[in-house]
Amino acid sequence: MTQDYLEAAVEIAQEAGKILMEELSRPLDIRYKGDEVDLVTQADKRSEQAIVARLTKYFPDHAIAAEEGTGHESASGLGFRWHVDPLDGTTNFAHGYPCFCVSIALAQRDTMLTAAVFNPFYNELYTAARGEGATFNGKKIAVSKNATLSTSLLCTGFPVRNRKLSPNLQYYGEFTQRSHGVRRDGSAALDLACVASGRFDGFWEFGLNKWDTAAGVLLIEEAGGKVSDFEGKPYQLGGPVILATNGLIHAEARMVALEISRRVPGRGEADSSKM
Ligand code: IPD
Ligand code: CA
Ligand code: CA
Repeated sequence: MTQDYLEAAVEIAQEAGKILMEELSRPLDIRYKGDEVDLVTQADKRSEQAIVARLTKYFPDHAIAAEEGTGHESASGLGFRWHVDPLDGTTNFAHGYPCFCVSIALAQRDTMLTAAVFNPFYNELYTAARGEGATFNGKKIAVSKNATLSTSLLCTGFPVRNRKLSPNLQYYGEFTQRSHGVRRDGSAALDLACVASGRFDGFWEFGLNKWDTAAGVLLIEEAGGKVSDFEGKPYQLGGPVILATNGLIHAEARMVALEISRRVPGRGEADSSKM
């Protein structure tokens, strides 16, 4: 059955990816979700509409949590829930920077079962199924073997809401000085997928939502990496901070993050809604 879920997730992510590519070639219709940089486009909405329609048709008993709010609960007691980001990297998309994707994951209660992350511009597809590993364009992937922070390439992101309250610039500066560098690519789902495939050695971010991280977390776990909060507790979807690494640099990255947390306001354990 897990295989059926994964096949559906891949099919639907690719269909949504086609919509994103169509929309990329059209004049943009940007709206703002209240804040000056929290964008939403016609592409986000069309992609979500297609994903929710197809998931509902295939799995009428499953709940859907989708970013633009068109998902639904389920009356069945089975506890299946799809986490959908119809366009992760909207700001990149709106500027024609080709780092964006569709992110779809299925959980049963607290257990992630399947994940698909698809960048339609580069035709790059990441998938994972619990217990069966992770793939990139059909080939098995594993996290990097880099064992020290000083030789690592890291990645992070910044929130689109309440930007001034985010403590992340401090972390960005410090980790930049202690590693080969910190990239800021603008799509959390792809950032996590890149940790899974070994392109990055580690990633952290504050205040991400469940739809941003659900697929990426399973990709990393199935590729042999580690995901937690800064304290080392298991990462909970929607938790205030995520630290995802190849496992080998995890303890060192955590120690650095905790050291910074002690010095700067807005620590990792604070409420994400305020960041
Ligand atoms: C955003 C991206 C970005 C991250 C932001 C997210 P969206 O998602 O994942 O990389 O830094 O925190 O909100 O709005 O493009 O779906
Ligand atoms: Ca997102
Ligand atoms: Ca989105």
